[in-house]
Amino acid sequence: MAEKFYITTPLYYVNDIPHLGHIFEVIGIDVLARFRRMQGYKVFFMTGTDEHGLKNQKEAERRGVSPQEFVDQMSEMFKSIWQQAEISYDYFIRTTEPRHVKAVIKFFNAVRDNGDIYKGFYEGWYCTPCETFWSESQLTDGNVCPECKRPITRHREEAYFFKLSKYQNWLMEHIKSNADFIKPSFRANEMINSFIKPGLNDLCISRTTVKWGIPVPGDNQHVIYVWFDALINYVSGIGYADDEEQFKEFWPADCHVVGKDILKFHTAIWPAMLKAAGLEPPRQVFGHGFVTIKEEKMSKSKGNIIDPREYFNTYGTDALRYFLLREISYAMDGVFSEEKFKQRYNADLANDLGNLLNRTMAMIRKYNQGRIIRKGDGLSASEQEIIASFGALFQSYETRMPEFEYNVILAQTWDVINLLNKYINDKQPWLLAKDSSRRNELETVLYTVAEGLRSLGSLLYPFMPATAERIWQQLGIEQNIPEVAWSEHRRWGWLPDGTQLREPSPLFPRIE
Ligand code: MSP
Repeated sequence: MAEKFYITTPLYYVNDIPHLGHIFEVIGIDVLARFRRMQGYKVFFMTGTDEHGLKNQKEAERRGVSPQEFVDQMSEMFKSIWQQAEISYDYFIRTTEPRHVKAVIKFFNAVRDNGDIYKGFYEGWYCTPCETFWSESQLTDGNVCPECKRPITRHREEAYFFKLSKYQNWLMEHIKSNADFIKPSFRANEMINSFIKPGLNDLCISRTTVKWGIPVPGDNQHVIYVWFDALINYVSGIGYADDEEQFKEFWPADCHVVGKDILKFHTAIWPAMLKAAGLEPPRQVFGHGFVTIKEEKMSKSKGNIIDPREYFNTYGTDALRYFLLREISYAMDGVFSEEKFKQRYNADLANDLGNLLNRTMAMIRKYNQGRIIRKGDGLSASEQEIIASFGALFQSYETRMPEFEYNVILAQTWDVINLLNKYINDKQPWLLAKDSSRRNELETVLYTVAEGLRSLGSLLYPFMPATAERIWQQLGIEQNIPEVAWSEHRRWGWLPDGTQLREPSPLFPRIE
């Protein structure tokens, strides 16, 4: 039976449209999901939207619609952008859907039955007009609300607490004895030193000031804190409260991918919640970096948001998918610039890859009547080098994919693309074609580049699914890429003799 692989994105707040940072995150996750499917895993890839809480309540009021109408619209917008970005999710969960609400109640009760929820008092700085509590560290302008700048006051209210402190030692032990639990590993040290070692406080998990949320079971005055609610999506979406079989099959999650800003929720609070509810922790949490614009984090308040749809519409989805994962190391922060985007588009996509396909297609049409001919004898040192390079590339690919080392993989892939381009320049098939005694040699060169392109289609598929399929289609391959077993993808010589090319069409028209 196929091994399962359950991978998730965080749930996105719907008070605004997704920006380039969100796209960077979600495509990085999509790449691994696609690769695992190619390898034959039974993948469950989940994403969705985080729809409760004060921010949405307020934004809906501002727009003069009900919170439900507002989140319905915004969630649809996320779905449509995910579709345009070619996100191959298996399930899109919304925290307002009934199965999630049911699961949150079941989970809350399980934790309470375990003795880990108690009633106490929450005290802090409170802005009455904004109905928001602020922590000491958020008060950057003195005793005024960071949002509306009006005076704040001390405020005390009854609230439910989760006994997070109880899990401090267990958590420390768990992180230390599971080297793969928090990745990349430098982030595990960050978490231990900055969050866990200083001591975990019990967590306030209810609010009486918020109306738009899931009421505490048995106490309608209180609404469950958005984070406690949202984290439960990872189990609710696979049937924690309504599909025992599916839940058993997929839990624990193999990988939660999240931004470094929300790592503590996923590596400390969430595992403790699960432990308290009698469930296993996720196998891995991967914390990625940020896309920045001129070194600044992208955010609405800074007004430096880039709408990915503009890029998708102008340059095609795959160009942006490629650029983000090639230019920025997934684990670290990286800068987005339009100039760099255009540069890489023309150099890497239009020239290196696009031209390789164009010239190969043109030569096979001209010299072989559009037929791929496989001789399988008389390989020279340069063909051996290409075959060995693909072998090494596939190997590096297999080990680096689960580590999210996408920029390295793509750089190595482009080295091989350039090796193929150089091979054509060196072999000069146009001269071989003039000499009938060198017919075999010509066919070997043409087969080598065609099979190289076929292999590139296999390797690029998780990153640029539509482009990879177009490469295969133009080469005349009948199958769709994900239908072919991974062991076949990585086998040099897979492209059958006699394959007939189809119509050529440029992959990436140059931009001026
Ligand atoms: N709703 C919570 C998550 C709940 S998960 C149970 C949340 N939402 S968010 O919309 O603010 O952020 C979603 C994800 O987007 C986070 O992982 C965050 O790190 C990521 N990013 C937001 N801005 C980003 C960049 N500029 N670059 C890369 N990722 C960024 O937090």
